[in-house]
Amino acid sequence: MKTVGNALPHDSAHLHVSGRAAYTDDLPEPRDLLHVAVGMSSKAHARLRAVDLGGVLAAAGVVDVCLAADIAGENNCGPIVHDEKIFATDTVEYAGQAIFAVAAGSADQARKAALNAYIDYEELEPILDPLTAVEKGSFVLPSETLARGDAAAAIGDAPHRLQRRIRIGGQDQFYLEGHIAMCIPQEDDGLLVYSSTQHPDEVQHLVAKATNRAAKDVVCVCRRMGGAFGGKESQAATIACIAALMAVKTGRPCKLRLDRDDDMIMTGKRHDFVVDYDVGFDDTGRILGIDFTFASRCGISADLSGPVNDRTMFHCDNAYFLENVRIVSHRCKTNTVSNTAFRGFGGPQGMVAIEYAIDDIARTLGVDPLDIRRRNFYGIGERDVTQYGQTVEDNTLDLIADKLEADADYRARRAAVREFNASNRILKRGLALTPVKFGISFTSTHLNQAGALVHVYRDGTVHLNHGGTEMGQGLYIKVAQVVADELGVPVSAIRINAADTSKVPNASATAASSGSDMNGKAAQAAARKIRGRLTEVASQRFSVPETAIDFSDGWVSVGPDTLAFAELVQLAWADRVSLSATGFYKTPKIHYDRSTFSGRPFFYFAYGAAVSEVVVDTLTGESRILRVDIVHDCGDSLNPAVDLGQVEGGFVQGAGWLTSEELFWNDAGELQTHAPSTYKIPTCSDLAPEFNVTLLENAANREDTIYRSKAVGEPPLMLAISVFHAIRDAIATDSNPLPALDTPATPEAVLRALEGAGA
Ligand code: MTE
Ligand code: HPA
Ligand code: MOS
Repeated sequence: MKTVGNALPHDSAHLHVSGRAAYTDDLPEPRDLLHVAVGMSSKAHARLRAVDLGGVLAAAGVVDVCLAADIAGENNCGPIVHDEKIFATDTVEYAGQAIFAVAAGSADQARKAALNAYIDYEELEPILDPLTAVEKGSFVLPSETLARGDAAAAIGDAPHRLQRRIRIGGQDQFYLEGHIAMCIPQEDDGLLVYSSTQHPDEVQHLVAKATNRAAKDVVCVCRRMGGAFGGKESQAATIACIAALMAVKTGRPCKLRLDRDDDMIMTGKRHDFVVDYDVGFDDTGRILGIDFTFASRCGISADLSGPVNDRTMFHCDNAYFLENVRIVSHRCKTNTVSNTAFRGFGGPQGMVAIEYAIDDIARTLGVDPLDIRRRNFYGIGERDVTQYGQTVEDNTLDLIADKLEADADYRARRAAVREFNASNRILKRGLALTPVKFGISFTSTHLNQAGALVHVYRDGTVHLNHGGTEMGQGLYIKVAQVVADELGVPVSAIRINAADTSKVPNASATAASSGSDMNGKAAQAAARKIRGRLTEVASQRFSVPETAIDFSDGWVSVGPDTLAFAELVQLAWADRVSLSATGFYKTPKIHYDRSTFSGRPFFYFAYGAAVSEVVVDTLTGESRILRVDIVHDCGDSLNPAVDLGQVEGGFVQGAGWLTSEELFWNDAGELQTHAPSTYKIPTCSDLAPEFNVTLLENAANREDTIYRSKAVGEPPLMLAISVFHAIRDAIATDSNPLPALDTPATPEAVLRALEGAGA
């Protein structure tokens, strides 16, 4: 029996629910462990006149402190551009920036001691929002433009034209497990780093550079994270570097675990955007030309903002053919924390922009927005080339929209909503169907590679490693299912091991939803090598052709004979055959020229669509989701239980982003919403009482992905754009047909949009 395609539980589910799954902070603490706390800037922009740590060193339990001057190697934690310091030197550029670290006997002592620093700031003027940054020419990277056709002419000639500025909020990753790293010095200057990271390879390299070591001297291990959501793609390295620098300085193991507030203040988030668009369209609602200007808050350094904003440019078409389009992207440098990856990686903001334009067109023409959406969908065999020159070959948009429209009873419910609103003055309902098309692959082509390591032991059990990390998304069970089928053993015969840079080198981050696509293929390649060798042994020993040998369920049939997998393994071992192999995979077909923004950056696209219905209280601005229907395309799912969880979880997280999670910086540049008391993530009670999720059936990926599955990690988040537009639908009236609603649609934002009525 095959295990791929089965709805197996997450490999650690029994450990998660019983509290026995070991996260980094649960690992046994080594003797002599010191706990580290970070001394942060309290100013958004200032020159450091003096930093006096006398009071810190004198505090109870303190062993040592560490500043920029103590860094033997490079004072940098910028993953692509070397523009971000581990510890500030002459100036600080955001409130929360690390200036020093302190190590003490307990975490409490370290945190208290950090407050004793005397820091003399000479304040400088901060830039606190993207528009001011644009005005002042403050950018972390050069602005980019992508154009096709003649947008200006098409807009100018169009029968209808609309312009709007929208603000799209950021989002904190709010993983349950905050950032943490523990560094244990090894003999002969080696360092072992346990890190809660999506990117052990980058932790290894940045720790090596900071501590003036070579990569061979540093090992990074991560068994699992308690959530990451992009927040631990680049940002984990800073935490690991600080723990490592302190471990090197003190010669003792050091652990740095950020407290929730510090985590939210110190580490990057989803980019908030200001978007201007100018769209021209015809009487049928078809877009003739569109011009976008995106300005995103990148914070003080480039971090991953280059590829994040590139992805915005690649996704502001979403599901729609934009014949004449011009996209300008500003990557704004602001005196706020450096923003980073978050599920969707810039894609969601691009999609919110185009969906807003479509919604505006529909409301202007007085047509159901679904009809305008479908009017603009990519075609099949025509109108099927994206603005970056990739042909959309696997379009299932109409298929999905047809199914969802029927399953969710969209047209009848549209009428019911209209009726409800006609007879209710204060409560208003809204309904929206929005599609998702999301490109799968890292946009930096070279990152699309993966490695794996498989050992088979003499008793027939299997040790599995690959470069991917587990953050709760179920990657490890999916890859184990692939290896189980390749070797014809049950999943229970496989030990799933921590990501470890000493086992699988040079791995990309587990990101861009590509974890199971890439590591599944790499592990399959490794398992195939071993299976090939075993087949050869069986063929020789039993004198049967290799084609007559089959592996299944822990048994091997060899012509007419059957023996246990473990027995064949014993025979191979006795024949001195290697039972260990590495596997490697690189995503095929992709190529892309960054200088012209053209090529085929994505191996394929993932598709889905959602219908959301909401009710809004127009007196208080509060809203509730009443019902959600989703159809999502996971190809031939490797594990439908895991994929279903990803679709549900992604949707809920997206709904949080667009309705309740609000980041607020005050005029001094201090983040005011740095705890769950003020930063509202969705709770169980926010779930739609009726939540129907269907995975598209008979939907084998047309590309040769692992078992024809499709990546699922990020795309469902963007299904939640339907919630936002359902809210906008609920508050649109004849006197205020195009409410100016920004995201997140908090009660305050809804009230502001309602006040626009008649104004
Ligand atoms: N699911 C859980 N439970 N926790 C997470 O941190 N991260 C998301 C998504 N799903 C995440 C998650 C993000 S941002 C990505 S890119 C993918 O998982 C990464 O894993 P994959 O490539 O194996 O899907
Ligand atoms: N997605 C996610 N993470 C990334 C990407 C991407 O496209 N490129 C670099 N890091
Ligand atoms: Mo996900 S934002 O690519 O880590």
